Amino acid sequence: MLSIFDAIKEIAFKIEYAIQTEDLGYSNSENSSGEEQLKLDVKSDLIIERALSSVRSVKSIVSEEKEGILNLNSNGKYIVCYDPLDGSSLIDANLSVGSIFGIYEGELKGENLIASAYIVYGPRIELVYAERGIRPQLYGGNNKSVRRLGEIVLQNRGKINAPGGTQKNWEKRHKEFIDSLFSEGYRLRYSGGMVPDLHHILLKGGGLFSYPATTDRPNGKLRQLFEVIPFAFICEQAGGEAINERGERLLELIPSNLHDTTPCFFGSKYEIDKLREAYGVAR
Ligand code: AHG
Repeated sequence: MLSIFDAIKEIAFKIEYAIQTEDLGYSNSENSSGEEQLKLDVKSDLIIERALSSVRSVKSIVSEEKEGILNLNSNGKYIVCYDPLDGSSLIDANLSVGSIFGIYEGELKGENLIASAYIVYGPRIELVYAERGIRPQLYGGNNKSVRRLGEIVLQNRGKINAPGGTQKNWEKRHKEFIDSLFSEGYRLRYSGGMVPDLHHILLKGGGLFSYPATTDRPNGKLRQLFEVIPFAFICEQAGGEAINERGERLLELIPSNLHDTTPCFFGSKYEIDKLREAYGVAR
């Protein structure tokens, strides 16, 4: 597994360099979800594909930007599902973006995720890596080297509320739940990038990140394999919880298709208990 993490470190510096130097315009292509791709989406995808191709333990890879599975090494053990540049539509406004990785062994489903990682391209690079049984580890990168900065632990409750999706398309129960957190004193922190928004909550010790079912997206927006399951793992390993609108653990999801989405809620225990109450679902 270490060699995959080494490749992720190398990827971080290469994508950071691409963000700083490449054209920010659109390519002439769409990804598998029909969204227009930026040239940087395509470039980041290629950087990751190349880096993971040289890791012998990687059997195959699945990119959020592509339709199917790409087989790399027949003797490899792991399948890496990744979102090469999450939040890339924020880049022209110079906001933070990220890359997300889920490392699976066996069938692609939550319970087979054995490690996950993300990179934040902010004012500086940070990486978070989590394996089963240990707290997520935080690393900072500069001058092409990476240094461990500490581990991530969520408190029982936080102060941040990061509510995704267009409010006019929220269900009534969701609107009331989000409002109830604000009336308890939670502060709005939402950039529109899942990686920096969740990183903020993780580093500040708690809060809630939500992307619910909406009238225009009944299954939510965020992809199970590339975004939701890897972050659910990190959140749980940090001592928090991650569930869907029916109260099921996101780590128990079994996607029917590679690009399936799901409503999702990530937070510390207090906020997730409040969500269960508001949505009327049992623990
Ligand atoms: P994209 O990669 O297409 O820019 O989408 C970003 C994702 C995710 O990072 C973020 O949490 C969410 O979309 C934001 O969506 P809304 O603007 O609908 O809240």
